[in-house]
Amino acid sequence: MGFDDLARWDGEELVIRHDRTTDAWIYIAIHSTHRGPAVGGTRIRRYPDLDDAAQDALRLSSGMTAKNALADMPIGGAKAVLAVREIPGGPERTGLLTRYGSLVDSLDGQFITGPDMGTTEDDMNVIGEVTDNVFCRSIGRGGAGTASPGTAAGMLHAIRASLAHRFGSGDLRGRSILVQGLGEVGGRLVELLHDAGADLMVTDVDAARVADVVRRHDDIRAVDSAHALETACDLFSPCAIGSVLSKETIGRLRCQVVCGAANNQLAEPEDGERLRAADILYAPDYAANAGGIIYGLGLERFHWDADQVNARLAGIADTLTRIFVEAERDGVATNLVADRMAAESLLRPSELVLAAR
Ligand code: PHE
Repeated sequence: MGFDDLARWDGEELVIRHDRTTDAWIYIAIHSTHRGPAVGGTRIRRYPDLDDAAQDALRLSSGMTAKNALADMPIGGAKAVLAVREIPGGPERTGLLTRYGSLVDSLDGQFITGPDMGTTEDDMNVIGEVTDNVFCRSIGRGGAGTASPGTAAGMLHAIRASLAHRFGSGDLRGRSILVQGLGEVGGRLVELLHDAGADLMVTDVDAARVADVVRRHDDIRAVDSAHALETACDLFSPCAIGSVLSKETIGRLRCQVVCGAANNQLAEPEDGERLRAADILYAPDYAANAGGIIYGLGLERFHWDADQVNARLAGIADTLTRIFVEAERDGVATNLVADRMAAESLLRPSELVLAAR
């Protein structure tokens, strides 16, 4: 990534720091503070190279601005990436997170972080030792705890809305669904879908996770991760890494609907049109996966009770339905309609106000 790539990004600020002790690189991409402090998770990952890491931060941060605006949150969007040599544990992890937390604190509340791929509420507790600008500390430490139950619950609404649009009913009984990625969100989503009677298939690059799910549920089928994309199903739910939907992969899909929790599912915006042309209904990722943000902020900053949180999570279904209906009416791809709606929301202030902690 060169400075030209950075100039093509339409964000506000990129903070870069090298952590000498662990040789990790820290990227905090603040995409927008227009609607309030920029909020986005902290991702810990190994990347093929630092270009990928920086690009990931930039791209994910724009997605957060759109997600937060579409969900009408009074916040902007950001994302942090800690690109590590090896996934750290023990004191090394604590040290890295503490130094990272000080960097977050130095941004004076312009950036507030939370959990993301590769981080947990325990990590938020460590960050929370040095800064208040963090969501989803554990409940004992005054946070909402992990946001994943919120993301998963929101995804269930999103999946029902997607099925209802495609098949005329959001009933999950007998619907074949393939969940890709059995992490914090995907794993929880599988349980919710199972309870609702879906006919489930699961896949993960980590065979142990798959084995664990099929051991607990003898009616859930394992799919080899190498063949996940070409597996026939009603709905494919990518809940792992991004860019799974691309020029190369879309032709292989044998599903009718894509609705998953992964961020940045489209490798490029044109993939939305490719999905439309293939007659696959695509639920724009940042509309479907806003449950974590809604849950974390709702509990910590709007002081919502469980019913209020649930009502907001159910709103994800309404948003998606609006997107689907408009896309169909105008004969355009769903991601373009979502982008348009998010851009409109960005222009008006949120009706919600962030309370102090
Ligand atoms: N990882 C969450 C997402 O991608 C971000 C998040 C931040 C969630 C803060 C809760 C609180 O949406």
